[in-house]
Amino acid sequence: MTLAGKRILLIIGGGIAAYKSLDLIRRLRERGASVSPVMTRAAEQFVTPLSVSALAGEEVHRDLFDLTKEAEMGHIQLSRVADLVVVAPATADLMAKMAAGQASDLATTLLMATDTPVMIAPAMNVRMWDHPATQRNLSTLTGDGISVVGPNDGDMACGEYGPGRMAEPLEIVAAVERALASGPLVGRRILVTSGPTHEPIDPVRYIANRSSGAQGTAIAQALRDLGADVVFVTGPADVARPEGVEVIEVESAQQMYDAVMGCLPVDVGVFAAAVADWRVKSASGSKIKKQAGALPVLEFAENPDILATVSQMGEGRPGLVVGFAAETDDVVAHATAKRARKRCDWIVANDVSPDTGIMGGSENSVILISAAGAEHWPRAPKQEVARKLAARIADALGGDAR
Ligand code: C5P
Repeated sequence: MTLAGKRILLIIGGGIAAYKSLDLIRRLRERGASVSPVMTRAAEQFVTPLSVSALAGEEVHRDLFDLTKEAEMGHIQLSRVADLVVVAPATADLMAKMAAGQASDLATTLLMATDTPVMIAPAMNVRMWDHPATQRNLSTLTGDGISVVGPNDGDMACGEYGPGRMAEPLEIVAAVERALASGPLVGRRILVTSGPTHEPIDPVRYIANRSSGAQGTAIAQALRDLGADVVFVTGPADVARPEGVEVIEVESAQQMYDAVMGCLPVDVGVFAAAVADWRVKSASGSKIKKQAGALPVLEFAENPDILATVSQMGEGRPGLVVGFAAETDDVVAHATAKRARKRCDWIVANDVSPDTGIMGGSENSVILISAAGAEHWPRAPKQEVARKLAARIADALGGDAR
């Protein structure tokens, strides 16, 4: 998603994680957002206003009582021109001041004066994060409608380990994109599976298929662009992972099954992955050695059918379940039978005979099978097929669910 035309008021608090805010500014601007930076006095101990303003391409706001700026753009106006106020890092001190409603410097005054949504990215020592006072402040802030990204678990600059590390710049960007999303799928959580699976034979060998993940990735992007909150469960696909969505990487069908079950409930499930039907029954824990005159024999076991399982769930079944069918002959008949057998709502069927160039290629020619019958879509780039499918899903769901 792009953030073109969006303005972020970025309040940088005084913590070591402030260095990540420099990268955050770059990432936000890369996506077309403009960033008005504000620094607390403490923040200036960690990064310089010069580097912040150089990256933002705008002057840093630092003083509450700056009469020149007050004449040009008062702090009230500054707090309201943004589409979103992001506090990163949000220190324990800043969170406490926000929760108490203090307006003792420019940053806290802006936070009190703003009428735009606020997001915080907390960063502090693990014990400070766990402290009942911080947790109390956190629940006050979330109760006030402030959204929170992170903190993450990990090694901290102070040498301790645990929750308190500020979310990475790209995670913050993704949260910003979600917060500013607009479109008919806002408020909808949609699961997309994509790519091939790898079924291990031994630690170095596996059985795979030719799926590139291109169509599933394009679908995730198209759904995201309509405002959906997308969770993308992908096998080891060739194409780059979509941005602005939650990505869960898996290898085998069993792992994909577990990941999908862990993502439920969702409003819609789109099962575009080319999941292996079988796995090697007992994959070897060590590399199978080549032996003269003795070929290894592989015994197979059936993989769980993710689409059929989700389609046939009673409670917790997504409102709309979309499966795919890659066929090489009698596409409509096979796909129609598959829809009935799996009990999904729609099947997106395509002919993957080698001469079509679809598997691994950039175009797709699909037939949408639903209760209404078979609808042939013209051959088009996979992105366009994805956009059409996303629009159909939006139509089927109707309206913004926010
Ligand atoms: O049965 P077949 O593999 O042809 O069905 C294809 C559809 O079923 C696709 O949507 C695919 O993602 C899904 N599928 C699945 N789990 C499996 C096999 C297929 O979700 N084990």
